[in-house]
Amino acid sequence: HRHLLDVDDFSPEEFQLVFETADAMREILARPIKKVPALRGQTVVNLFYENSTRTRASFEIAAKNLSAEVLNVTSTASSIAKGESLIDTLKTLEALGANIIVMRHNLSGAPHVAAKYSKASIINAGDGWHAHPTQALLDLYTIRKHKGNLNGLKAAIIGDVRHSRVAHSNIWGMTRLGMKVTVCGPPTLLPYGLDNPGGLFPEVRVETDVEKAVEDADVVMALRLQRERQQSGLLPSVAEYVRRFQVSQERLKRAKSEVLVMHPGPVNEDIELAAESAYGDKSVINEQVQNGVAVRMAVLYLLAGKQGEL
Ligand code: CP
Repeated sequence: HRHLLDVDDFSPEEFQLVFETADAMREILARPIKKVPALRGQTVVNLFYENSTRTRASFEIAAKNLSAEVLNVTSTASSIAKGESLIDTLKTLEALGANIIVMRHNLSGAPHVAAKYSKASIINAGDGWHAHPTQALLDLYTIRKHKGNLNGLKAAIIGDVRHSRVAHSNIWGMTRLGMKVTVCGPPTLLPYGLDNPGGLFPEVRVETDVEKAVEDADVVMALRLQRERQQSGLLPSVAEYVRRFQVSQERLKRAKSEVLVMHPGPVNEDIELAAESAYGDKSVINEQVQNGVAVRMAVLYLLAGKQGEL
């Protein structure tokens, strides 16, 4: 791969390569001096058309740990706000020496367009409703750290699955690595055609009863209610959603006793996930964030440091 646009075309061996490289990066992160010269002389640009805390900050830390030059460009504080097109922005960044462009965009497919026109490597840092490959890689890496082999594990992904690029990339990764995936939420917030046996994700179980969805789960992943993407208003109301779908301590009792409680963040506390579950002893939310640095170092290294090994 020259770009990382999604994980839908990853083989199990490619996932393994990222995980093992991230293990090596974690060893570097445990040292007093975390900087290694792998990307010296390379320029990484974080090009963000949508807000972010975790993804943007962890890519910056990851790139700096690998000794790359790092530039941050956001749509609100750049000439994008004056109407500059995506292609012109990419050409400008290339002229300034960008080797890797980490791109978040509100439109699904924007990084794929960028990859067609750009000489730099494009990393998709989340595009619209579509994909968020590095989030899925860090989620899978976190599960692997706790459970070892992913094959046969049961995951329940609960919430606004329709608008979730995180869910889509995780479904690709989890099913490719042999996990059994159940998605759960109100029908209005489940992807179109998900229950169609000939559809995009034929192996995924669809459930609208949260108690059944979490039954015996090894992983419960709550998703943020993405009210900014729910054009026709929130369906159902927040109060109704909380009552029927919130991941609570009581509901988690139905999962395996060693269940991992996950959330990509940012969390709407006490809406999709009870605060006591988000901060409880089964939560690995902070580990997800920490592993994000090692996984993003691995992705940058494999894409650039070793000339397209990914
Ligand atoms: N999980 C995630 O993408 O978070 P940010 O929007 O803060 O980057």
